[in-house]
Amino acid sequence: MAKQKTTVGTINDDVLTFTAGRDVELDHALIVVDCIGTAAHVSMLAKMPVKPKLIAESERKQVVEGLVEIIGLAQKNKFKIKLADQDVHLAVERTLTQKLGDLGKKIHTCRSRNDQVAVDLRLYAKEQLLATLEEATELVAVLTAFGKKHEAVPMVGRTHMQPGMPSSVGLWATAHAESLLDDCVTLINAFELNDQCPLGSAASYGVPLPIDRQLTSDLLGFSRPTHNVLYANNSRGKMEGIVLSAMSQVMLSLSRLAQDFMLFTMPEFDYFKLPAEFCTGSSIMPQKQNPDVCELVRAKASRVKAAELGVYDLIKGSPTGYNRDLQEAKELFMEGIATTRACLRITAPMVKATKVNKKALIDGFSPDVFATDRALELVGEGMPFRDAYHYIKENLHELEGIDPAEAIRLKTHLGAPMGLDWNYFKGRTAAVKEMVREERKAFNKAVSKLLGVNYPLN
Ligand code: ARG
Repeated sequence: MAKQKTTVGTINDDVLTFTAGRDVELDHALIVVDCIGTAAHVSMLAKMPVKPKLIAESERKQVVEGLVEIIGLAQKNKFKIKLADQDVHLAVERTLTQKLGDLGKKIHTCRSRNDQVAVDLRLYAKEQLLATLEEATELVAVLTAFGKKHEAVPMVGRTHMQPGMPSSVGLWATAHAESLLDDCVTLINAFELNDQCPLGSAASYGVPLPIDRQLTSDLLGFSRPTHNVLYANNSRGKMEGIVLSAMSQVMLSLSRLAQDFMLFTMPEFDYFKLPAEFCTGSSIMPQKQNPDVCELVRAKASRVKAAELGVYDLIKGSPTGYNRDLQEAKELFMEGIATTRACLRITAPMVKATKVNKKALIDGFSPDVFATDRALELVGEGMPFRDAYHYIKENLHELEGIDPAEAIRLKTHLGAPMGLDWNYFKGRTAAVKEMVREERKAFNKAVSKLLGVNYPLN
């Protein structure tokens, strides 16, 4: 039976293909962070108070230079992971050993691929969460601008999908914006939990040498190391699930927005018009302009939730310590994030280009939509609410001729159609943007210091 010599022993070809699985492709997304993690680990080893030194300062420099070279190649898509490498970790070690000889064989001292992949995924998640937050704030800004532009345009407010009370396009749009702002909080919570360094936990049980986990964490710009080394490994999978659950909240908001768009662009409503370039036609029905983008966003919300549940299911019966099952979470994790980001990026320009049909929105008002408002007017004149309710119920014919624009002008309290505080949306959006800017700056600063070159490399 055919076999392959790998860095960690000879493995049967079929077993190698089966066990490496999709890592050989997926790990290309981890090359840069794997090199950054290794630079921090080796720099910590070089500082370790043991005699003889595990890694001399001059050796540390050579390793870091080699890693910077690999980062440069990876940025140009020129660093390849081979099947015999199994994954990014051994590909980087093989490359450094080819270049630096015995020195390359030292980099894995006091480390396991288990804590290595855990730190890679956390560094990967960090950047992905920041990018997601950035894309989410872009959509919030678009929805808020849409709402502000159409602030005073009346829209029937519905419950149970039935006409309810006078509302506005501004209220509708910013309801979706506020939902996404709450999702940003969830993403930031995930960011904060993720912002802990698991390196140094090794296989799951630490090492019998005085490694400095705080130093490694600081060098990588993490807020702190995880504490218990066994939990550091158990937190893999759990962390992916937390990130995916935040992503799935974003998808929930997007899916409901997409659903509203599908409903209100139906010719029977005609409240909004999706731009033609965001619709697709039919191969048989020449007149069709279908809202496929919205449908796919709705469908992809299910896929992201499935990714989250998939990870949960993978680990819920997982015994303590590293188990190879965790590798299967990688694909779900990366796909769930990529899907969420793609949905955010396609929805923002679609909302931006959507046209509002004021006439159809106003024509949508039937007199009964003013029933509650009129009952409350009677309350203002001194009638007890329940009496006013019954009076209007029996005299709905009295509601003719009310102007919807006038009706929403009366709703001025906090968060009502004419009580929307535009600074509220602006302030929350700016705070998220500021957080992203600061976190990126701090991370790039730490990594630039670690690598001795400006990061990201240009
Ligand atoms: N590709 C592996 C993963 O994603 C790396 C860790 C392998 N560890 C091991 N003990 N075989 O989990």
